[in-house]
Amino acid sequence: MKITSAEFIMSNQDVKKCPNSGIPEYAFIGRSNVGKSSLINMLTNKKSLAKTSGRPGKTQLINHFLINKSWHLVDLPGYGYARVSKSSKAKFQTFITKYFEQRKQLISAFVLVDVRHEPQPIDVEFMEWMGESGIPFSIVFTKADKLKPNALERNVEVYTNKMLEGAWEEMPPYFITSASNYTGKEELLGYINEINLSL
Ligand code: GTP
Ligand code: MG
Repeated sequence: MKITSAEFIMSNQDVKKCPNSGIPEYAFIGRSNVGKSSLINMLTNKKSLAKTSGRPGKTQLINHFLINKSWHLVDLPGYGYARVSKSSKAKFQTFITKYFEQRKQLISAFVLVDVRHEPQPIDVEFMEWMGESGIPFSIVFTKADKLKPNALERNVEVYTNKMLEGAWEEMPPYFITSASNYTGKEELLGYINEINLSL
């Protein structure tokens, strides 16, 4: 799928104030600094559509982007960032949780994990919560440019085994990506396109 237009629509903290058109929506979630905003820029070929930073905690709101005038990509704040205050962390978590529980337009989430790291409890728990809540998701491994092919393959295998040992009967769909060198772009957009066509 080719992205011919990508525009910022709005930011807010309240799921009730998100765009109320019924178009399909896909949301990016994961730990702070994992590369959610960078991936949105990579997919849309726009360097600074979503704000990114080397410091975790950059994205603080629910951000809607309209793609090809027909579907939304949503950039969310990261979870698990230790340096924000407890109260603002709790606030984040409430509105992110509400977003996932209430957003009818959400077709699927993408849970981003850094491919360099072993499965982290916070990600595993989040995915289990998604599963229990009946929210479809895929896994997006990020920062693939940071590993050599062998290590990449090994880490994905470790991740898969951990999921299968845990709560999952099968591995959710997954994608290996790099915002730096465009790895996984066609696969991810092709996947979204297929779902859009099936709706
Ligand atoms: P929050 O908004 O804080 O939750 O973070 P985020 O998940 O949106 O991460 P962001 O896209 O802001 O990227 C965090 C840092 O990782 C930035 O310094 C990016 O340049 C870097 N980064 C993101 N994706 C990649 C990638 O694929 N490869 C490499 N090498 N660096 C990346
Ligand atoms: Mg961000």
